[in-house]
Amino acid sequence: MRPAKSGRQALSAALLIARVSASPAPTVVPVIININNNDIAPPVITPSPVESYPSPVVQRDILSDVESDVNNVLSSLGSDLPSWVASGVPNFFQGFPTGDAVASSLGLKSSDLAPLPTNVLNVDPYANWTNSGWNVRFHGNVYKQPNTSISDLNTLANVFLIDTKITDLPESEQDQARNLTAEIFVVQQPNVAVNAIHLEPAASQGSSGQPGGGGSSNTTGGWQNVTLPYNTTAEGDFDAFVPIASNGLTAGNETSAIQRLNTYVDGASIGNATAYLVPPTGLTVVSDIDDILRITKIYEPKQGLLNSFAKPFTPWENMPDIYRNWSTSLPNMHFHYLTTTPEQITRNYMQFIYSTYPGGSFDTRPLNFSDVSATLSIRKFLLQKIFETFPDRKFILIADTSNSDIMRDYPEMVTEFPEQVQCIFLRNASATDSGDKFPYDTSGFKNLSQSQYMFFLNPDDLTNLDIANGECYNKTIPQNLTFSYQGLPLGLGKHSGAGGGLTTKEAAGASSLVALVASMLTAAIVFI
Ligand SMILES: *[C@@H]1O[C@H](CO)[C@@H](O)[C@H](O)[C@H]1NC(C)=O
Ligand SMILES: *[C@@H]1O[C@H](CO)[C@@H](O)[C@H](O)[C@H]1NC(C)=O
Ligand SMILES: *[C@@H]1O[C@H](CO)[C@@H](O)[C@H](O)[C@H]1NC(C)=O
Ligand SMILES: *[C@@H]1O[C@H](CO)[C@@H](O)[C@H](O)[C@H]1NC(C)=O
Ligand SMILES: *[C@@H]1O[C@H](CO)[C@@H](O)[C@H](O)[C@H]1NC(C)=O
Ligand SMILES: *[C@@H]1O[C@H](CO)[C@@H](O)[C@H](O)[C@H]1NC(C)=O
Ligand SMILES: *[C@@H]1O[C@H](CO)[C@@H](O)[C@H](O)[C@H]1NC(C)=O
Ligand SMILES: *[C@@H]1O[C@H](CO)[C@@H](O)[C@H](O)[C@H]1NC(C)=O
Ligand SMILES: *[C@@H]1O[C@H](CO)[C@@H](O)[C@H](O)[C@H]1NC(C)=O
Ligand SMILES: *[C@@H]1O[C@H](CO)[C@@H](O)[C@H](O)[C@H]1NC(C)=O
Ligand SMILES: *[C@@H]1O[C@H](CO)[C@@H](O)[C@H](O)[C@H]1NC(C)=O
Ligand SMILES: *[C@@H]1O[C@H](CO)[C@@H](O)[C@H](O)[C@H]1NC(C)=O
Repeated sequence: MRPAKSGRQALSAALLIARVSASPAPTVVPVIININNNDIAPPVITPSPVESYPSPVVQRDILSDVESDVNNVLSSLGSDLPSWVASGVPNFFQGFPTGDAVASSLGLKSSDLAPLPTNVLNVDPYANWTNSGWNVRFHGNVYKQPNTSISDLNTLANVFLIDTKITDLPESEQDQARNLTAEIFVVQQPNVAVNAIHLEPAASQGSSGQPGGGGSSNTTGGWQNVTLPYNTTAEGDFDAFVPIASNGLTAGNETSAIQRLNTYVDGASIGNATAYLVPPTGLTVVSDIDDILRITKIYEPKQGLLNSFAKPFTPWENMPDIYRNWSTSLPNMHFHYLTTTPEQITRNYMQFIYSTYPGGSFDTRPLNFSDVSATLSIRKFLLQKIFETFPDRKFILIADTSNSDIMRDYPEMVTEFPEQVQCIFLRNASATDSGDKFPYDTSGFKNLSQSQYMFFLNPDDLTNLDIANGECYNKTIPQNLTFSYQGLPLGLGKHSGAGGGLTTKEAAGASSLVALVASMLTAAIVFI
């Protein structure tokens, strides 16, 4: 491994993508595509214990040197700690190909793409009330969907599966895996205008899904067409606040109810979304999705990939009941779903949420958050954005412990926005799911009041809490917090209760290991 250079160099990484030809009888030849640092996501944002399975779209050989280095380090410390425990190995949702990499992996020429219709991924926006009226944050992506054959999609889908082939799956799961793969292999459209976004009042929440997120109020106006002030970015993204005309909408300072507008983009048959006009004061739930609202098992890569690509999305236990109760007993509650899953697969997340949980606005990882520093901070960036947009609302932050960025960012929001965090609820996934061996760092909670947060085990632990009046801690749930790394396997950290805790010496070792391994991985991925 070459020594790390300083600064922001032009990085390059090899991405192994099966090359499929566009011809009717595809020849499948693996090729290495060189892409630059803007195209590949670095490790660490939501580390998962990848064991011997690095991100399937990252060339597998890259990591083998690193793993032996890691093992050397670990054995020199006299510990059997598996390398993935300490590592910030890239999670399997990173490094999806974009733009040219997609076109070349599908063997597409620009003349093939030109006649295809333009699609818009319109991610459900929120809007705040300002002196100049409602201000809507439109965000999403403009792309073209190549007409990829089933056999080519099968080949590409296999890249995302571990120890199994798509053709071994039941028909319906194959169908879903191909659909998702097709969503990943789209060609984003840079520098195009996003015009004629049509707005109209939304009917109250449909029969599927749950009410709430303003589903109980009736929106009376808002008809208009909007053009975004900027063209799409190099990756086809758009993200801009746009003041809209009232045209019969209720002013934000005259209601505490959420109003809903259908937003759809001209010519985009699948670009429909709902905009949530959220008054300045009230409660907003900011919820992660994987392993808190649905069973993903992101910490078990093989299963996590199957759950994400092939299996129907399944709610986690009775979590929908908890949200249903909140959205009906607190009808003006705003729900905002904030996941760092890549934008390309957002639609599946939105469909699942809107048929299972209360309606609400959405944030996923935009494509321009794929360079090193941005990826590390994407969740924080999106959290800060919503806190700054609603400075007088209070937030209830919900997720599970398997995301190291959440363990850092959620408590930091209390420090940075002291008046705005009402509650933090974290499912301790490793306490109930033996497959979750990923250690989690509770040090961020050290200076927080216990009345403000709770680590919990099952959705029922959240019942009967008067969250509107700040009751965030269910006193019957032991917390076991050591305010350091917890949940380490192999007996490490067994001293401080079953939640797991480390002695000071172990903690120092573990945290430097984390830093060491993360930097080795970064170096390896960056400097090949
Ligand atoms: C609401 O805000 C608008 C615009 O800032 C202002 O003209 C109006 O007087 C306000 N209404 C109330 C009830 O404060
Ligand atoms: C997509 O390709 C298939 C054959 O590969 C063809 O039958 C179908 O008409 C094409 N669809 C579009 C929309 O071009
Ligand atoms: C796959 O996509 C097609 C076309 O959009 C849709 O009709 C079908 O229901 C989808 N299947 C699954 C399992 O998502
Ligand atoms: C924005 O995109 C449109 C095409 O959609 C193009 O005509 C226009 O020149 C672009 N504007 C800028 C500033 O590049
Ligand atoms: C919304 O409209 C429906 C039908 O007109 C009515 O039954 C309902 O009470 C209204 N809801 C509110 C909150 O005004
Ligand atoms: C928005 O544009 C459509 C045509 O694209 C038009 O039919 C409609 O009347 C416009 N709506 C408003 C409120 O201007
Ligand atoms: C890209 O990321 C930057 C932050 O690094 C952000 O300010 C900007 O709004 C993003 N643009 C889009 C279109 O997502
Ligand atoms: C999107 O909304 C428009 C206007 O309500 C509607 O005509 C169209 O059918 C909708 N498309 C989808 C896919 O729901
Ligand atoms: C509305 O949101 C924008 C964008 O985050 C923010 O700059 C502005 O301060 C917010 N306005 C109010 C009145 O909160
Ligand atoms: C606390 O958790 C227990 C166990 O899940 C549950 O039965 C109870 O309703 C919860 N709420 C309160 C306020 O105790
Ligand atoms: C439902 O939510 C309300 C509001 O937070 C709370 O007071 C009540 O105890 C909850 N009920 C259940 C069964 O969780
Ligand atoms: C706390 O420790 C007990 C056993 O000591 C365990 O059963 C429980 O799952 C732990 N609770 C949490 C929230 O980790």
